[in-house]
Amino acid sequence: MIAFYSTASGNTARFIARLGVPAVRLAEPPVRPFVLVTPTYADGEGRGAVPKPVIRFLNDPANRTLIRGVIAGGNRNFGEFFARAGDVIAMKCGVPLLYRFELSGTDEDVARVRSGLERFWTRQLSPAQ
Ligand SMILES: Cc1cc2nc3c(=O)[nH]c(=O)nc-3n(C[C@H](O)[C@H](O)[C@H](O)COP(=O)(O)O)c2cc1C
Repeated sequence: MIAFYSTASGNTARFIARLGVPAVRLAEPPVRPFVLVTPTYADGEGRGAVPKPVIRFLNDPANRTLIRGVIAGGNRNFGEFFARAGDVIAMKCGVPLLYRFELSGTDEDVARVRSGLERFWTRQLSPAQ
């Protein structure tokens, strides 16, 4: 399952729609382990990369215990701060940064995330293999 945040520009929401996997917006608390998908909104120096609604969501221990990985969106124009929200969340929550994509992603991003998530959840459910 995916929990995601997207703003009015809707890039992340379009990426999620193309993935075609079960997904909820952050407003609905997830009931099972999820991968978080979020865009990056930093100032010019990388500060504030994680959107405030995502911070509020992750401040709730009930949500934080269920996060298993993060996928971050961004724009390569931001250079070293591309998709920085993913690095910050991975570090703070101790989960892997699974993927980074630009804007609403390419067809290749969609295909790679779909198959990557399948492998990821298979491993999560049977870690011995
Ligand atoms: C004010 C502002 C700051 C941004 N900062 C970053 C940034 O630091 N790094 C990055 O990779 N993308 C940055 N972006 C690009 C957004 O992450 C990108 O447009 C994303 O696709 C937006 O997703 P959404 O439409 O779902 O909100 C920024 C965009 C805006 C408008």
